[in-house]
Amino acid sequence: MSTTNKNESVKLSPMVRRRTAKDISNRKGKEPIVSLTAYITPMAARLDDYCDFLLVGDSLGMVLYGMESTVGVTLDMMITHGKAVMRGAKKALVVIDMPFGSYEESKEQAFRNAARVLSETGAGAVKLEGGKEMAETVEFLVKRGVPVLGHVGLMPQSVNVYGGYGAHGRVKEEWQPILDDAKAIADAGAFATVLEGVAEPLAAHLAKEISNPIIGIGASAECDGQILVTEDMLGLFSFNPKFVKRYAEIGTDIAKAVEGYASDVRARKFPGDEETYKMKKPS
Ligand code: KIV
Repeated sequence: MSTTNKNESVKLSPMVRRRTAKDISNRKGKEPIVSLTAYITPMAARLDDYCDFLLVGDSLGMVLYGMESTVGVTLDMMITHGKAVMRGAKKALVVIDMPFGSYEESKEQAFRNAARVLSETGAGAVKLEGGKEMAETVEFLVKRGVPVLGHVGLMPQSVNVYGGYGAHGRVKEEWQPILDDAKAIADAGAFATVLEGVAEPLAAHLAKEISNPIIGIGASAECDGQILVTEDMLGLFSFNPKFVKRYAEIGTDIAKAVEGYASDVRARKFPGDEETYKMKKPS
């Protein structure tokens, strides 16, 4: 806060207001919503200025921990990384994924675990995967103060049922169940819904038909917003599906940097004069 002389009004530095789930739902059909995943404090701090919301995705199991799927991710892992992201992001809404097994059993189990996530991390919303079968749970959570981001289409937590990560809705017969899922989740009160891995015309149609914002990943530019796994778009993770556009090749930059370091160490060029402490001059 800065004060000026008494003839001038007191100038208050503007308080940064963190975006809310309501802000996101109000963006339906307006300026596209920008979102990325974040798992750690320094990355969250770098993304904060550019993103409307940050997702602490359970993809962290694969990206950070080398798991084969997201199925082994635990609630405690999500809470630890949720706290880390909240420390780095001050403006974006932070949404935390409910991991496999933490919400499907009953709406009461979902509420108990979602309440833990929100109260222990300070995040503003949770995400859960599922269509019609999860609508009752979504409504139960929203009515009890838990903002929910839905997730339909390709649902990675169901990889053991699908047998892979292929796109959905590439034949017309597959459209109706996905439309029904998205509608059920929107009607249940989800503030927005992630639509993953579906044919482009289905995604465009769905974004027009469904009442809440549809956030695409492997979907369509016609969606109300987009999300990507940050490490995918930075070239930091070897998973490279068709729908990822790489905006940087940081993996290659890291390899080059480490190669330089290793060769300097072997040639006794590092540490050099600049990086070593000299003796103090005697006083
Ligand atoms: O876990 C995750 O990162 C996600 C996004 C890919 C939407 O669910």
